[in-house]
Amino acid sequence: MTEQSPALDNLLTESRTFPPSDEFAAKANATAELYADADTDREAFWAKQAERLHWDTPWTSVLDWSDAPFAKWFVGGKLNVAYNCVDRHVEEGHGDQVAMHWVGEPGDTRDITYAELRGEVCRAANALASLGVGAHDRVAIQLPMIPEAIVAMLACARIGALHSVVFGGFSPAALRSRVDDAEAKVVITSDGQYRRGKAVPMKAGVDDALAGAESVEKVVVVRRAGDDLDGEVAWTDGRDVWWHDLVDAQPDDHTAEAFDSEHPLYILYTSGTTGKPKGILHTSGGYLTQAAYTHRVVFDHKPGEDVYWCTADIGWVTGHSYIVYGPLANRATQVVYEGTPNTPHEGRHWEIVQNYGVSIYYTAPTLIRTFMKWGADIPGKYDLSSLRVLGSVGEPINPEAWMWYREHIGGDRCPVVDTWWQTETGAIMISPLPGVTHAKPGSAQRPLPGISAKVVDNDGTEVPAKGGGYLVLDKPWPSMLRGIWGDDERYRDTYWSRFAEQGFYFAGDGAKYDADGDIWLLGRVDDVMNVSGHRISTTEVESALVSHPTVAEAAVVGATDATTGQGIVAFVILRGGAAEGGEGSAGGEEAIQALRAHVAKEIGPIAKPRQIMVVPELPKTRSGKIMRRLLRDVAENREVGDVTTLADSSVMDLISKGMKSGSGDE
Ligand code: WT7
Repeated sequence: MTEQSPALDNLLTESRTFPPSDEFAAKANATAELYADADTDREAFWAKQAERLHWDTPWTSVLDWSDAPFAKWFVGGKLNVAYNCVDRHVEEGHGDQVAMHWVGEPGDTRDITYAELRGEVCRAANALASLGVGAHDRVAIQLPMIPEAIVAMLACARIGALHSVVFGGFSPAALRSRVDDAEAKVVITSDGQYRRGKAVPMKAGVDDALAGAESVEKVVVVRRAGDDLDGEVAWTDGRDVWWHDLVDAQPDDHTAEAFDSEHPLYILYTSGTTGKPKGILHTSGGYLTQAAYTHRVVFDHKPGEDVYWCTADIGWVTGHSYIVYGPLANRATQVVYEGTPNTPHEGRHWEIVQNYGVSIYYTAPTLIRTFMKWGADIPGKYDLSSLRVLGSVGEPINPEAWMWYREHIGGDRCPVVDTWWQTETGAIMISPLPGVTHAKPGSAQRPLPGISAKVVDNDGTEVPAKGGGYLVLDKPWPSMLRGIWGDDERYRDTYWSRFAEQGFYFAGDGAKYDADGDIWLLGRVDDVMNVSGHRISTTEVESALVSHPTVAEAAVVGATDATTGQGIVAFVILRGGAAEGGEGSAGGEEAIQALRAHVAKEIGPIAKPRQIMVVPELPKTRSGKIMRRLLRDVAENREVGDVTTLADSSVMDLISKGMKSGSGDE
């Protein structure tokens, strides 16, 4: 691989290791034997993990891989996912345990016990059923981080309907394409949401999105912002219904039907290398097994003792697996926080940790780097002694951030687990075990017991120690995706064609072994950017830019960014008249801001380019492929690399000279 990444540089110098304390190791859920167990008999190992769930009908075989790449796990088994996450804990006498300490951004709070959660989920399940939603139907959910979001997901699971959660920051256009692709029958949203101390509308965007959406019969609206919103909420009679009118009137009893282990649980859209997001499909038994197993061993979670907090949004897979399914299956007491980390002040997270005695905290490197920027004196003001495990996910964590996290949040005593996985893998795949692993800052280290991963070269041959290449998963795993919604061909193509001969799953990440055989992730090797742990395709942003009337052509790259991991940098060629330049013309600062706003409108604010450069030409190979490598050199202020494969090698001179740049205002 030619790309040089910061992780790779660190790899040459990083030699610190942090073993668990004897005290931690002695009580840890997972010991070193787990690796041996899994190696001895992989299927028996997974069967043992699955047995921790409640199955109405036992499975007849653990894995059927005969129809690869479409896996079946726990074949013939039947279970209800929501029952496993809620009811069984109540039936086992834990109804009074708090499931959720919910903290609203304005400061309102709700504690919800497992018994109360069961009542809510049952009412919501009855409500959905009353709207005609049944097994296999799709329900789209666009909600802020409020308890109803979790209740809605569980209610779908309970009745066998698939949820498709769409991140609240996605634009109406993005919501619409997801609603159409999944042919959602019902959409659940809220009147508004609190963002940085302000109530902002949500339903208004959903209304825009759904104009003419043929599949949608009902829109259920949670009242969240209420009178804090300016103006009335527009209402479509016959289609729209308030959550409280619909759900509160329902009986809080609902008999959970057991579904097949392979019954679809949800669709979650994620960016690929084309402009069209992929609807990643997950099913029930295997997914819940691995979500619960990983949550138990990676975070060393102890039900009834720990207070767990994952700071993700339910719009991403981390929220699905590590706020909803994994923790609830394990009877966690967790914090769910609605707002941004600096509202009303930059110590908000640490205040919450202190108030609730949070013991396990799981967040993303981009946020850790933001906390670093705000300064160690901020967490220093709070009592963080309840913390005992820290997790990281979403992108490679640089050793500086890792060390800062361990020192300033973890008081130099908490193990840090750097967890590698993807929307497609459904659950954590590569991670230290906190009571076993001698942790290395910046490395995700080893596949978990029961999981197999390799770093291979172009031909699929495993590279030796200290070698780099592509990360592959060479054996099926329980929570693996079961396909792309409505597009089996794209599923095979995207993940299984690159190493078809070997039958490896191609993860799209570059990786390297160190001298000990530990894995270091090096970032994406495809045209996918990772901005603040969110996956965004270069093509998607390019299409959004080109849809603006002033833009003739666009090329987008992810450039290294000190806070967000990667920042989006766009190179645009403007159309005829717009390209003349000068004050007030389309190439001016104002026009660049207009383009940034246009991308935010088309995709969502997370996709807004950090920087847009107006250029006269783009570097292309003779076959017309844009050479993003060279643009990345420019975007990262490096000397431009080898240009010999360009159709016209003078283009890069032109770009460097004629470039006008506009930077973001974030
Ligand atoms: C991509 C998946 C998994 C939930 C959040 C993102 C990158 C994720 C790590 C990590 C290095 C990581 C990879 C992966 N990634 N975790 N610990 N170290 N890279 O889910 O949106 O599906 O993105 O995020 O590039 O392929 P996602």
